[in-house]
Amino acid sequence: MKKVLFVCLGNICRSPMGEGALLKILDDKERKDIAVDSAGTSAYHVGQRADGRMRKMAMSYGINLKSRARQVEVEDFEKFDYIIAMDKKNYVELDQMKNEDNRAKLVLMRAYDEDDLFKDVPDPYYGGKSGFEEVYQIVMRSCEKFYNDELV
Ligand code: 4NP
Repeated sequence: MKKVLFVCLGNICRSPMGEGALLKILDDKERKDIAVDSAGTSAYHVGQRADGRMRKMAMSYGINLKSRARQVEVEDFEKFDYIIAMDKKNYVELDQMKNEDNRAKLVLMRAYDEDDLFKDVPDPYYGGKSGFEEVYQIVMRSCEKFYNDELV
């Protein structure tokens, strides 16, 4: 069973969308051998469901975001095969948590975005609806490439 963890700051917008997008792809491909989860580098929203604006945007594309926020922990680097950081700040924080013989491969979400490589997935929290649409589009196309490159 391969395991993939998406990580952002709050674990209520971008990483729940990553989790939902990859679960949708896996469901469409009838892959039941890959587990997906998400977490935040912060503890700001622990226990909360995804932001209502992100859930509404995802739902408009047929994706039900069911996650509850949790904070990433050092054990995650042993449990997961891939840890996907939504932006470079997340990446640097995660990189400082890991040690050399960890199982997880730490990657940046937009290392898989052929439209615009290595940018951050922009934080939509303090912005308007268009930011959530942008997160959906970026994360969905990046997850498709991630799936094809790493999980096929
Ligand atoms: P996320 O968005 O990292 O994509 O879940 C944010 C959610 C909450 C906050 C910042 C970003 N916050 O500062 O509370």
